[in-house]
Order: sequence, then C-alpha cells, then structure tokens
Amino acid sequence: MSNNKIKKIGVLTSGGDSPGMNAAIRAVVRSCAFNNLLCDGIYRGYEGLMEGDFEPLNARSVKNLISRGGTFLKSARSAEFRTKKGRELAHQHLLKASIDGLVVIGGDGTFRGAMAFGEEFHFPIIGIPGTIDNDINGTDFTIGYDTALNTVVGAIDKIRDTAHSHNRLFLVEVMGRDAGDIALSAGIGAGAEIILIPEQNLGKERLIESLKRSKNSGKTSSIIVVSEGDKVGKNIYQIADYIENTLTGYDVRVTVLGHVQRGGSPSCRDRVFASRLGVNAIDAIIRGEHGVMIGVQNSKVVSVPFSEAVKGDNKIDKELIRVADITSI
Ligand code: F6P
Repeated sequence: MSNNKIKKIGVLTSGGDSPGMNAAIRAVVRSCAFNNLLCDGIYRGYEGLMEGDFEPLNARSVKNLISRGGTFLKSARSAEFRTKKGRELAHQHLLKASIDGLVVIGGDGTFRGAMAFGEEFHFPIIGIPGTIDNDINGTDFTIGYDTALNTVVGAIDKIRDTAHSHNRLFLVEVMGRDAGDIALSAGIGAGAEIILIPEQNLGKERLIESLKRSKNSGKTSSIIVVSEGDKVGKNIYQIADYIENTLTGYDVRVTVLGHVQRGGSPSCRDRVFASRLGVNAIDAIIRGEHGVMIGVQNSKVVSVPFSEAVKGDNKIDKELIRVADITSI
C-alpha cells in the first residue's frame, strides 16, 4: 500500500558516528528528490530534532560526500529524548516544519528512541543501521563495520612488524561495546594468535595455556586482540599484568586503538551498502511501512521491526570462532 500522504522527510544521524553515514544521508536525500519528496536534514540527531535545527536539502546539497567519514549532519547521544517531554518537543518541531516522515541512521539507542516516538505520535519512522559495532539484530551488517575492520587490520599489520622484530607479545584493544564482531573478524584478518570476545569467556587459565602452546610451537611473537567488552580481566592492562606475572620471558605491550576505528573514508563496501539502505528506506516509507529498520539478510534487503532490531542478543558466528582457532595454531 503506498503512502501518498508523505510529502516531506526528515533525516538525522544519532549515536556514535560511523564511516558511511554520509553515503546513507546522500542516498536518502537523492531518493527523496527522485521521488518528488522534500527532505530536511536534522542536525545533531535527536538534540537537533528537539530544537528544530533543520535545513532543507536537495540533490546538490549532498555532493562530494560519499567519500567522507563521520556525518555532516553531526551526531549526539541525547538523554532528553528519552523523556516524554523531550519527545513532545520534537513532535512539535516536526509539525511546524510539515515533516511527515523520518529516517534515523544509528544504532540500538537510536532505534529505541525511534520506537518510543513512533508509537507515541503514530509517526512514520524508518531506521538505517549505522554503527561500527555490527551489534544490531536482524541485519547481517551495519554501516561502518567494514571500514572499521579494515582500519583495525591495517593497524594490527603495523603492530605486528614491531611484535615480530622485538619478539614481543602485543595486546590490542578494539571497540565493539558488548559485541565481539570487530575483534573476531579483524582478529582473523590480521592473523591474531588469540581473540578475546565477550560472547565467549576464555578464562585466564586457558589464555595462559594457549600462550604456552604458541611458544612451544615455535612462535616468537604474538598478537592478542581484546574486544573492549571482554570479561577475562577488569581491563586490558590487568590482562597484560597477569600474563607478565604468570609467565616468564614475555615482553608485553598494550595498544588501545580507540576512536581511530570510527573515522576515515568509508570502504567501497560500506558506500554501496549505505546507498542501498538509503534508497530502500525511502521506498519503504513511500510503501507505508513504519517502525522498521531496513537491513540486509543473506544479501537481500529486508524490513525488521524496531522491537526485533534492538533485542541486543548479539549472536557471534560460531563458524568464525572455529576458523580463528584452526588458523591460529
Ligand atoms: O557504538 C560505537 C562505539 O564506538 C563503541 O564501539 C564504543 O564502545 C562507544 O561507541 C564509544 O563511545 P564514545 O564515542 O561516546 O566514547
């Protein structure tokens, strides 16, 4: 069923920025132009929504953006939008600007806000998954994940040069919040000896056993990739201390990659993915869908209710754990 009532869309990015968000905004704006819909960009996510910080965008407003990291609309994590008062304020600004549909690009916090708002005001909202963490239920990938993986692999390749030259053990912390996707895939891609992820608690004893096995098999240096949500130690420095205090002859160093993983020009894969999701988000809102995220499952574009997308039960691919175990011996 087509939704002929929609005439003007608002688009915003919210939560942590991720490479490819600009490509998604660009696709939304151009798809609006293609379908004769007006489009307003909303600055600073839900913060700008509550302040009426809107700007009309046309197809030319989004030129030269596809290759740029971050989000030109800027992003924020808003505490006020979690309150009913904040959402009422946002609704008033949308009415005033005659915006009758929203596209929100972000992660689970963004979708939770969208779900509450959509239900309270019966307002059509479509979500696009944008986060480097790849922790959204119902989509195989999120925008920015592929670029972040390439950044992490590039960084670990460089660290390995030093690890190898000095016979050192490096612990490298990567982002992902409570999800180990970045650690697992980048760990395999960079040939890590051990990968610590929150979904699989290796335990300190098995970590030590694994290091001993590596040494006995003739390895002179090692890389341990540690997901920031991992629970083996209180933090990566504590794990490093534990290894140095338990095993002799290890020269241990710690690198926390941090926000370098969130920036940079998006990979081609992320640009194409973001463009697909942006175009399909506008198709969905024209069809009359709302309260759903547009994602990809087995290479096909799908609509997933927000309630499913935010479930938070990130499932790690067991096949990848097996591959990591076998290829790191
Ligand atoms: O969700 C993206 C992410 O980069 C996580 O991987 C990380 O835990 C968090 O955001 C960091 O948030 P902030 O930029 O607010 O420090």
